[in-house]
Formats: sequence, structure tokens, C-alpha cells
Amino acid sequence: MEYLIEKINLSKKYKSDCIVIGIFEKYQLSYIADILNKISDNYILKILKNNNFKGKINQIIMLYEVPNILIKKILIIGCGMKEKFNREKNKIIIKKVINQIKAINIKDVFWCLTDLIIKNINIYWNIRDTIKIIEENIYTFDKFKKIKKYTLSIIKFNINNNNIQKSQKAIIHAKAINIGMIKTKNLANLPPNICNPEYLSLKTYKLSKKYKKNISVKIIDETEMKNLGMNAYLAVGNGSKNKSIMSVIKYDNLFDHSQPIILIGKGLTFDSGGISLKPSLNMDEMKYDMCGAACIYGVINFISKLKLPLKIIGIIAACENMPDSNSFRPGDIIKTMSGKTVEVINTDAEGRLVLCDVLTYINQFNPSIVIDIATLTGACVVALGNNISGFMSNNLDLSKNIIKASLDVDDRVWELPINDKNYYNELKSDIADIRNTGNSNAGGAITAACFLSKFTKKYKWAHIDIAGTAWNYNENNKAFASGRPVNMLCQFLLNYSNYNN
Ligand code: BES
Ligand code: MG
Ligand code: ZN
Repeated sequence: MEYLIEKINLSKKYKSDCIVIGIFEKYQLSYIADILNKISDNYILKILKNNNFKGKINQIIMLYEVPNILIKKILIIGCGMKEKFNREKNKIIIKKVINQIKAINIKDVFWCLTDLIIKNINIYWNIRDTIKIIEENIYTFDKFKKIKKYTLSIIKFNINNNNIQKSQKAIIHAKAINIGMIKTKNLANLPPNICNPEYLSLKTYKLSKKYKKNISVKIIDETEMKNLGMNAYLAVGNGSKNKSIMSVIKYDNLFDHSQPIILIGKGLTFDSGGISLKPSLNMDEMKYDMCGAACIYGVINFISKLKLPLKIIGIIAACENMPDSNSFRPGDIIKTMSGKTVEVINTDAEGRLVLCDVLTYINQFNPSIVIDIATLTGACVVALGNNISGFMSNNLDLSKNIIKASLDVDDRVWELPINDKNYYNELKSDIADIRNTGNSNAGGAITAACFLSKFTKKYKWAHIDIAGTAWNYNENNKAFASGRPVNMLCQFLLNYSNYNN
């Protein structure tokens, strides 16, 4: 998909296949709509009035063969009351327009909605939002389909001279983030018989080959894990014939001694629950238990594309949780890499076991910030639903920056508390240092984070539980990866590197 900036003077001579314009209620025309209407000798307004088009939000109409105009199709979208037009409404109309464009197979569009004035939003964010919504609505996962769907190919933005630089920057950022999102979705949508831990490690290896100057990858296999004492991680993968593999992706574009930011992704390529087997209803969705890892892969793609001035270590913590005679069991006591022992109560609470060893492993890098991304708990879905990710942190500054990034790009998170001793009491074990599930089911997203927090004492840390947001459902109730929270993390890193407008 290409995004171009077009500086044109609309006149009778301007030729194109399709133009998109917005009209507010009470026939308040946007700048471009007004010009077009004048060229057409008021024909456009007349037609709208005859067709009862009042400019109500999402009212949509396509005009063909408008007098004096060589543009073949004029797609007009109602924007509601001018005074009430805001970021939310802008997103609503973009979605409507893009679905219309898809329905009639238009490939090349002159897009004039970015000149609608939106309260508190400048052109940079207007374009960022626009590209995000367009891309979200044209994405298809058809790798395994014989017949591929069509794709829209060119969007030309109408931008006035003052805004060109900001717009170009927005396009560059939005496209790089979109590449990250698509990489994440494509990886996450793969079936678990293809996307196993080895497959994930190969993907990271290929990425390092593509960006040789900035990326190196270290593969930690089971032998290495044993040497390191990562017994909790190993225990989870024991029941699978697919070996556990952790990929450590080092991205550096600073080449100095600064401390790295570490991003960790839970990469369960399938979570059957293990011996504590999950019910079969919707178990297929547990191929998405590697969405945290897929997210890290997408984010590293994004940083590399933009060559951000950062030092990042991305960790793909991959393994598969299967029932087998080699599986770990409820009742097992495992010595983690940190030395703490864990009593396994439920083998389905495996994500925290994998992560706790990774959180210990990374101490050697002396990180400035650590963020883990994980489809960690069903309880998080119960608490926050499917549009807001849970997050918990041991550092106020980090929390603020995560919230800021999430609001910037509307990739929402909500902070849950971990600073209450009652949660930690839930994790007390009579036989080991700690149990892997809370004593009750209450506050499950939080007790999981509290478990992790016992391994993150040495650095600023945030945990993002994406169990409810990493995938969503289409009109047939089929689950597809959402690519979240790639947008939020990319924005966090853009803000961090001061790379923004
Ligand atoms: N991967 C699941 C969490 C999950 C569940 C993600 C549903 C998305 C949708 C995780 O490994 C898990 O099974 N957690 C258990 C923990 C429980 C046993 C304490 C859960 O949430 O049921
Ligand atoms: Mg599980
Ligand atoms: Zn899991």
C-alpha cells in the first residue's frame, strides 16, 4: 500500500478515479468539498439535497459523472455536526469509507478527509490515525487460501503546503508501525503445527540477516537453558516434542555503553494447559499464546525499519505446553533460575514459569527498563474485556510513559495494582518458596503479575497482559490476531527516543 502526498489545485482539469470528501450537517462543506461544488455549479449540493443526504455521521453516497469534473467517482461521507467532530468520529468515518472503497474494488483514491479540522489533533496525528484505520480494515490473512482478496494500492493525501513536513513524518512513522503490526499478525495467525519454537527462532535469525548492521541474535536452546538453571522454563516445554528455544535479539543503533531496554514476549506456540488440560471449547485459540512474542518480533521490525537511536533487547520466549509422560505435573517443585523454588499447582499457569526465568536471565544485561508482553491470564479478560490490556508496574515513571503512549495511539491499557500484601499472601506455599497460582481464583491477573514481580526487583519493570486484546473475532466469530499492543510499544519507543513531532 502506498501513501502519497499530493499538492494539487483542484480544477476542472484534474483527473482521477476516485476522490473522498467529507460534508458536515447543515451542508457545511469542507474546503475541498466547497471547491468541487463550485466547479460543478452547485450540482453536488443539489444532488445531496435531492437524495436526502444531510451529512449525518456515516451517511455515505457515491456520485458519478458530476458535471465539469473529470474525477470519475466522488465518494461523500457525512461527518455529523461540525462543532462535534473529534478524533473518535474521524476514525468512525474512515472505517466507513474504507469499507465502501473495498466493496466496490477501488484501487487508487484521492483522500481529502485529512483537511477536516479535528479538535486537539494536528495533521501528524490525523494522518497517523488515518493510516492505522485504513490498514486495520484492509488486512487479510490469506496465506492458506488459494484465492487471494484484492487490495487497495494507492492513497493520495490532499495536504496544504504548511503541513507537508509533518505529514511526511506521519506517513513514515505510520508505515513503519504498520509493517510491525502486519509482521506480528502474520506470525501470530499461523497455525501451531507450523509456528513452533524453532520456526520463531528462524524468523528472528532471518531478521538479523536482514538488518545485519544493527541486529544480532543469540539462540538459547534446551542444553544452554539447563546450564543456566532455567528449570521453570524447561519444565513447561518438557511435554512437547518441540524443543523450547529462547531467542535473544539484540538491536543496537547507539554503539555506546548505555543500558538496554528489554522487551520480553511470552511465546507459547500452543498452550494446551499441559496435564491441567484445558477444556476443548476454543482450545484452537491457544495458538495465540505466542502473541507476546509475535509483538516483540513486530516491534523489532519497526525499530529496525526506522533505525531508531536505541539499544533494545527483544526476547522471544518460545515453547509449547503439552500433556505427555515427560510433562511437568501439578505437585512438582521446581528450582527457578533465581534460586527460588516454585510449587506447581496448575500446569496451565505456565506463562509465569517461563517468564520468571527470562526475567532472571536478563539481569546480566543491566537493563534500564524491562517490559514483558504476555497472554497471561483469562482473569485479565474477565476484568478488562477485549479492548483494554491490563498492565502492572513497579515504577511510576514507567507507568506514566506507558499510559501516555497508549493514549497517544489509542491502544488502550489499564493499570492494575500490585502493591498490596494480600495478593502476595495468595502465593504463599507450605512446601516451597512460592506457588504458581493464587490460593483463590480472585484477582488472577494481579496474582500472576505479583508472581512475576518477585523476579523483577533489580530493574524498572512493567508487565502487559494482552490475554483479552491480542486477538479479536470477525463477523463469523473466527479469531484473528489484532497486532496489539505493537502500536503502543512503538509509540513508547518513539517517545522515548524523542523521535516524535
Ligand atoms: N494462556 C493462558 C491465558 C489465557 C486464557 C489467555 C484465555 C487468553 C485467553 C494462560 O497460560 C493460562 O492458562 N492461565 C490460567 C491461569 C490459571 C490456571 C491460574 C488461566 O487464566 O486460566
Ligand atoms: Mg496456560
Ligand atoms: Zn498460556
